[in-house]
Amino acid sequence: MKPRKILVTSALPYANGAIHLGHLVEYIQTDIWVRFQKMRGHQCWYVCADDTHGTPIMLRAEKEGIKPETLIARVHGEHSRDFAGFHVEFDNYHTTHSPETRHYAEDIYRKLKELRLIKVQAIQQHYDPVKQMFLPDRYIKGECPKCGAKDQYGDSCEVCGAAYAPTELKNPYSAVSGATPELRKSDHYFFRLSDQRCQDFLRLWTQTNDHVPSEAANKLQEWLGQPGENKLTDWDISRDAPYFGFEIPDAPGKFFYVWLDAPIGYMGSFKNFCAKQGLDFDEYWNPDSQTELYHFIGKDILYFHALFWPAELEHAGYRTPTAVFPHGFLTVDGAKMSKSRGTFITAESYLKEGLNPEWLRYYFAAKLNGTMEDIDLNLADFVARVNSDLVGKYINIASRCAGFLTKFFDGKLAYGNVNTLIEAALDSGKTVAASFEARDYSRALRDIMAIADRLNGEIAVAEPWNLAKDEATRIQLHDICSRALHGFYVLSILLRPVLPALTSRVARELFGMHRDFLWSDLADTPHKVSAYQHLMQRIDVKQIAALVAANRESLAPAPEQQSQQRHAEHQADAANAAGAAKVSHGGTPHISIDDFGKIDLRIARIANAEHVDGAEKLLKLTLEVGPLGTRQVFAGIKSAYDPAKLVGRLTVMVANLAPRKMKFGMSEGMVLAASDADGQSPGLFLLSPDAGAAPGMQVK
Ligand code: 2FM
Ligand code: ZN
Repeated sequence: MKPRKILVTSALPYANGAIHLGHLVEYIQTDIWVRFQKMRGHQCWYVCADDTHGTPIMLRAEKEGIKPETLIARVHGEHSRDFAGFHVEFDNYHTTHSPETRHYAEDIYRKLKELRLIKVQAIQQHYDPVKQMFLPDRYIKGECPKCGAKDQYGDSCEVCGAAYAPTELKNPYSAVSGATPELRKSDHYFFRLSDQRCQDFLRLWTQTNDHVPSEAANKLQEWLGQPGENKLTDWDISRDAPYFGFEIPDAPGKFFYVWLDAPIGYMGSFKNFCAKQGLDFDEYWNPDSQTELYHFIGKDILYFHALFWPAELEHAGYRTPTAVFPHGFLTVDGAKMSKSRGTFITAESYLKEGLNPEWLRYYFAAKLNGTMEDIDLNLADFVARVNSDLVGKYINIASRCAGFLTKFFDGKLAYGNVNTLIEAALDSGKTVAASFEARDYSRALRDIMAIADRLNGEIAVAEPWNLAKDEATRIQLHDICSRALHGFYVLSILLRPVLPALTSRVARELFGMHRDFLWSDLADTPHKVSAYQHLMQRIDVKQIAALVAANRESLAPAPEQQSQQRHAEHQADAANAAGAAKVSHGGTPHISIDDFGKIDLRIARIANAEHVDGAEKLLKLTLEVGPLGTRQVFAGIKSAYDPAKLVGRLTVMVANLAPRKMKFGMSEGMVLAASDADGQSPGLFLLSPDAGAAPGMQVK
């Protein structure tokens, strides 16, 4: 088989925020695919970069009192550290603020301009007269034109869900300075996506050669409309100064919009890599290239990658992507990641809490199937699955059998029929490889775990621990342990793309190899093992509780964030910049019925209540919550209640509050009590339901 030449990218993360578990879905997904291709002997390069331009980065640097260049250099270090921590191994991790990206941005722009695919048109935009800058929609806030809610963003209302233009907001104000914005005209540069040449090209490109998976192709078809319908609009690719980015060559004071140079950053990073490696950039990017180019992305940026990007490349005389692979979003425990619930988990905190990055790689892989479906990180399932599959099934094989080989057989393996074993390994390799290739890691892991199940079944029947007690059964002992270790070897090869660090140790420490596994090692058999060393710890639920606690922000009206859903101009930083205004403009913000629905309120019976040694305000309550079982909760109600009088009564509790480690133990929920604003006077009043309510009933 001739080795393929493959170039792979993941979406470039913005340089104004930390890497979190939502990001990691994509980087882990891509890294697994790249590692798989490399193991198969292909030449596969994985490049990425920080996405460094735009208004949010400019404003954040200003707020921190540093230059944007200083900010992006710092974030580049943080991002690189986090990726390495999760074994995401780029061949090159660059920055869009680079001479290479500038070169290709200018080059593509010039070529499009020569083809009359660039136009200039004056548009009206909100302008902040104090800050003296045009405001992206997300930086304008005001009252919702539909429901009147205060402090809503310029594009949609978080209270009633209405979408509108920023010009429709009532009493608009700039989230940057608080000033009332003015409407001003300015010339903008547009890429003429509506041009017939683009439409004709995209109609063909999006519907042929599997450039995008079929569900995405359907979406693109909707955006494109029927031939003659002309649904595509021209794309605004410029922003006025002040802006952090590249100035457009022939247009002083006008800058390329961040989304113009972001995908060009893929080229910039690869060009930078080629210079270091002595590779031929043009071999990969010429219009007749025989190499393959794949972009892994989130489904929210499909429009950019499957319409703008190929149209730009095609008309600027470069190759277009072989395929674009969109994935879904991450939810945690079935809901959007949330700072207030502690489920907006940063990569850094996960590693700092001492959790093993390969647990997460395994769990994400078990959920990823190559479609755009969202994937859920269910924290209880995460613990159960990693402990039962990885430790209970896979590691268990080696930990139960390797010791007998070293103790009784000098570590040597002896096979009955080695050909049958190799044939079976190669067969499994074929099936699993097809799943990895198709990005259906979920199926790959199901097949891999089925092999582990079969082996564990054989071990259970043979009972090597009993065979070892009797000199007369040495041959049987040698046979089952050798087959078990061969199986472990096969499983380790198949799992390498997902568990690169663990399987590297297996190859080197257990099987005495001087390199990591290759797919072709399936055709071989190990002949010797070294003494078994402990390979992987189980997850302790307490680690998860600590992780959630470490990520919980107790700021009262912290906005729920779905950071993978990028708004056109985005983002978290808009919210930061708007922070001050948000507090000053009103009382408790509205929440939607969906927000309310996230709270699992339940009737609970106080089965026990007692004082806590050393706690001034707390009582320790044991609550019975029907089908949800028993919960221990520390409640700050000591000043108002004699514990003995509480036993037996019903109250209301929040049942899905993430468990919190307190000085006196874990608190697994919260009981509800009424009080005045200071929380104490004229007293505290525990809520009680009407007669008839029973423990575990939902309160809605
Ligand atoms: O949505 C985002 O996070 C962008 N920074 C992705 C850019 S991907 C590519 F176009 F560079
Ligand atoms: Zn509204």
